[in-house]
Amino acid sequence: MFANRITIYQKLLFVLLFGLFTSYGVHAQDSLATATTDNADGGLAKPSDEVYNTGKTLWEQNCTSCHNINAEKKVGPGMKGIFERRDRAWLKPWIVNSQAVIASGDAYANKLYNEYNQTVMTSFAFKDEELDALLDFIAYESEQEAVVVTDTDGGNTVAGDSGGISSNYFNLLLGVLVFVLILILAVLFLMVTILNRFLNQKEDLNEADKEIVNQKFNPFSIFQSRAFLGGVALIFVLVVAKTGLDGLIGVGIQQGYAPTQPIAFSHKLHAGMYEIDCGYCHTGVYKGKSATIPSANICMNCHNQVKVGSPEIQKIYKAIENDKPIEWIRIHNLPDLAYFNHSQHTNVAGLECTQCHGEVEKMEVVAQRAPLTMGWCINCHRQSAVDHAEGNEYYDRLLEYHEGTKGKAPMTVEQIGGLECSKCHY
Ligand code: HEC
Ligand code: HEC
Ligand code: HEC
Ligand code: HEC
Ligand code: HEC
Ligand code: HEC
Repeated sequence: MFANRITIYQKLLFVLLFGLFTSYGVHAQDSLATATTDNADGGLAKPSDEVYNTGKTLWEQNCTSCHNINAEKKVGPGMKGIFERRDRAWLKPWIVNSQAVIASGDAYANKLYNEYNQTVMTSFAFKDEELDALLDFIAYESEQEAVVVTDTDGGNTVAGDSGGISSNYFNLLLGVLVFVLILILAVLFLMVTILNRFLNQKEDLNEADKEIVNQKFNPFSIFQSRAFLGGVALIFVLVVAKTGLDGLIGVGIQQGYAPTQPIAFSHKLHAGMYEIDCGYCHTGVYKGKSATIPSANICMNCHNQVKVGSPEIQKIYKAIENDKPIEWIRIHNLPDLAYFNHSQHTNVAGLECTQCHGEVEKMEVVAQRAPLTMGWCINCHRQSAVDHAEGNEYYDRLLEYHEGTKGKAPMTVEQIGGLECSKCHY
């Protein structure tokens, strides 16, 4: 009896350890593929945090769609060495209104403008201290070595810094767990051997008991045991049932839908690598109900010059010549009975695109990530606290009032009427 139980524990432990080892191995391989190099020191002193952050924000919101901070060309020149080419007195009016500088007959500006096929740089009505912060940021960052992060899915390199903290932490945790399990296993084996020896020395053991005590542990016997086979059968039935049910519930839901588009347009390239702001193309997304799909003119802001020879880009030219819009295939589509407004969510509530669309900037082809069911809308409205852009007096007062009556629990969208049928249904 007693010895029998020990072998069952041995088997259980074996299965547990086997599982842990395999998952640890797979995970360790994953993390081997990423490598980061440290940021080299660029010599120039870093501006104060406040100046640096102001400059960084201005740069990221306004310039990264056309310029790289390093030497690489994008739509316009890279920023490395810009202060050797030009000084502040030239740069400030240029950023505020480059066309005015060109019109004034400035030789450098005209040469540059022609070199870039007369692509017009956007004008920016920045204040003087904003210009200074922006230029301080550019001066500092453009002299840093680019931080290169190797993508896990191939050889492409992307500039930017990335944190792998959570994955490292997970590895460490797994390592510790495996170690503890090995320790437990060792102790258990020790106990088993001691008990075996003790039982063998006993005289009054009958034959059947002796056999069990001396039996060798065979890991493959696990696969033949009734408990194991029963477990596998149960899991199989559950998986089949779950897939069947999901299939039935999912009728009419297009989650995962990712049609091939007429032009091989890549968000990974445009929004990811070149960091073009979503709102640059989806012009309605912060202002109106619909995000809108960009017209060919918006593509031409850059492709009148970038990759003109490519057959994919030629399709844009053809659309413009024939005066026919590009026939993009619609992916997200609510039924007519529902009303959804983008600006309410992006601008008022300050939600990120990723919360509803997934990481579009990593998608080669856009796929629908959210189910877009009523339950999905309602769930989020139940859970989300009302959060809004600063300086909206209506909400400031509403929240103040809420705190006065309901205490500290955050006010959810549900409480401002986000579950009322008429808000979402015409
Ligand atoms: C729509 C694209 C676009 C945006 C946005 C843009 N630029 Fe430019 N920039 C250009 C182009 C193109 C040129 C090359 C000159 C030309 O064609 O007008 C240029 C030239 C420059 C130059 C001169 C480079 C040199 O090598 O002499 C500087 C400096 C510059 N931009 C800074 C900025 C800053 C700072 C911002 C953000 C506040 C910005 N640009 C935003 C397109 C852009
Ligand atoms: C350079 C222009 C451009 C930029 C920048 C851009 N998009 Fe798009 N987006 C498009 C075009 C063109 C389509 C239609 C073709 C397609 O689906 O790929 C599209 C389609 C989409 C769709 C699917 C629309 C549908 O039919 O349901 C989503 C969602 C989307 N974009 C989100 C984003 C997000 C989020 C960002 C920012 C991270 C972004 N886009 C940046 C041009 C752009
Ligand atoms: C702000 C600038 C910008 C805008 C706007 C823009 N693109 Fe691009 N696009 C680029 C850059 C930069 C590349 C990369 C070129 C390279 O690989 O050298 C590119 C590459 C492409 C490519 C790949 C071309 C090839 O053969 O490798 C396609 C297709 C494309 N864009 C389509 C579009 C479409 C469609 C739009 C409009 C919805 C658009 N782009 C808007 C800057 C832009
Ligand atoms: C709260 C969820 C939510 C957020 C946040 C959100 N979207 Fe959407 N998006 C939707 C839904 C729902 C649709 C389908 C709308 C329809 O069919 O009427 C959609 C549709 C789209 C479309 C297709 C064209 C259209 O307007 O119907 C684009 C493009 C798009 N979103 C881009 C974006 C971008 C870019 C952002 C971030 C700035 C963003 N979305 C943020 C939920 C969201
Ligand atoms: C990721 C969370 C999220 C999802 C998903 C979401 N919403 Fe919202 N929604 C919000 C938040 C947050 C607000 C509050 C905005 C504000 O402060 O007014 C809001 C507000 C609204 C409002 C205005 C409510 C009011 O009382 O003023 C409507 C209408 C709405 N959402 C419709 C929809 C529809 C339709 C869907 C699904 C297609 C949807 N939402 C999906 C987060 C979400
Ligand atoms: C936050 C937004 C939201 C609210 C609030 C809301 N709905 Fe919906 N409802 C939707 C969306 C989005 C759909 C479409 C989903 C789909 O096609 O699966 C929908 C679909 C439906 C449908 C199914 C129609 C069909 O053809 O399948 C019915 C019925 C419905 N809603 C009734 C209601 C009633 C009744 C209420 C009030 C108790 C309500 N809804 C409140 C967003 C909402």
